[in-house]
Amino acid sequence: MAEQKTIIIQKTKLEISSNSAPIGVFDSGVGGLSIAKCIAQQLPHENIIYIADSLHAPYGEKSVEFIIERVNIIAEQLIAKGVKAIVIACNTATVNAIEQLRAKVNIPIIGVEPAIKPAAKQSITKKVAILATQATSENQRFKDLIDLHHNGAHVIIQPCPGLVEFIEQDKQNSQACNVLLKQYIDPLIMQGIDTLVLGCTHYPFLQKQIGLIAGQQVNIIETAAPVTVQLTKKLAENNIEACKTQQGQYQFFSSLETEQQEKIFSKLWQEPLTLYALTSS
Ligand code: DGL
Repeated sequence: MAEQKTIIIQKTKLEISSNSAPIGVFDSGVGGLSIAKCIAQQLPHENIIYIADSLHAPYGEKSVEFIIERVNIIAEQLIAKGVKAIVIACNTATVNAIEQLRAKVNIPIIGVEPAIKPAAKQSITKKVAILATQATSENQRFKDLIDLHHNGAHVIIQPCPGLVEFIEQDKQNSQACNVLLKQYIDPLIMQGIDTLVLGCTHYPFLQKQIGLIAGQQVNIIETAAPVTVQLTKKLAENNIEACKTQQGQYQFFSSLETEQQEKIFSKLWQEPLTLYALTSS
């Protein structure tokens, strides 16, 4: 149980955001690197500060109150580091905490939501499944999103407790992870789905394993590209894009900073990096 803290996020004035200020990206752990990587590739001039709250992962098995408290603490740290926009690179945190965060800060806050709309549109069998964390699966905002965008398709929500831990521990190629994946995916295939939405930013790091179980006839959809498009739009609208002559710099922080974590980060980022400890977390 988290100790109750009062979080005061100062209303941030957009005018003080310089164009060269970094974009803050965060997740409960390493999952959001799948989003940050796409941002770095599509917007190479932007500086990025990434925070992983790995000490408190998985968020998907925590209470709504706990998730909101962590989101506010991390957002406060990013704002203290001078970010000009925040990307909540976590479906669980987005559906549970984005609205209250937007009400507290003035900088653009971009969230990640499962790509239900394109999935329902692309499905031929009109049977779509979403793999998500327990906390996302139970969330009303998430259910409303399905009601809004199902477009006549039958949408199956499959909560996947346990998967995030395998990725956090670099065990995505283990036999145990494969057994759990089969347990979640096989019944969906039996029900005739042809489209599978990855509703957690950790799951793209399992895409190869998921594809092998689901088979080639199943289209797998993730959200890094549309989130990057939305971020690009918000930066342009607010006139806070980085200068095109600048080369983006990246900094990585974790609430669980260890040598092993640094190795996992480097592997998923596909480049050597230094992982810094997130202080007062
Ligand atoms: N990567 C996150 C998501 O997109 C959170 C996973 C977790 O911590 O349970 O939902």
